Amino acid sequence: MTTPEAAQRIGDAAGGRGELRLTVNGAAVSLAVARTTPLLYVLRNDLRLNGPKFGCGLGECGACAVLVDGRAARSCVVSAGSVEGRAITTLEGLGSSAAPHPVQQAFIDEQAAQCGYCLNGMIMTATALLRRIPQPTETEIRAALRYNLCRCGAHVEIVRAVQRAAGLAA
Ligand code: FES
Ligand code: FES
Repeated sequence: MTTPEAAQRIGDAAGGRGELRLTVNGAAVSLAVARTTPLLYVLRNDLRLNGPKFGCGLGECGACAVLVDGRAARSCVVSAGSVEGRAITTLEGLGSSAAPHPVQQAFIDEQAAQCGYCLNGMIMTATALLRRIPQPTETEIRAALRYNLCRCGAHVEIVRAVQRAAGLAA
């Protein structure tokens, strides 16, 4: 019978466990993890960056979004090894409570949340959108966020928050 420890060793060998060098929120970090480990697990479990959330684990809800070289990526389905040498930004890298990023501030101003679980994905995806299209139309905002799920139904406020961040608030 294969023990969990043996399975882990086999998995580590298959995944190429070794020194992994990542750049997260502008800082270089070096970790001993299997290259196949989902980036989300490395961020949350090893680096204690809990902005990205575990929702579906299947790339379908968006709760785990981060920026990789400025583009939104679903960290539950991105292996840590595949983003070595790329610039990874988490919610914590955008701003802080004391100095929020304009997108974070816009979500606060619009009170665009109920439970808040989807917000990491909404904010990271909106940030990537505004980098590409600084003044998006409502249709473009809705299209960019269409695969980010919000079970609370806060979509109206979320769209308004993105418009506010873009300087389009009424
Ligand atoms: S947890 Fe990654 S997309 Fe749902
Ligand atoms: S505010 Fe609860 S899931 Fe969006």
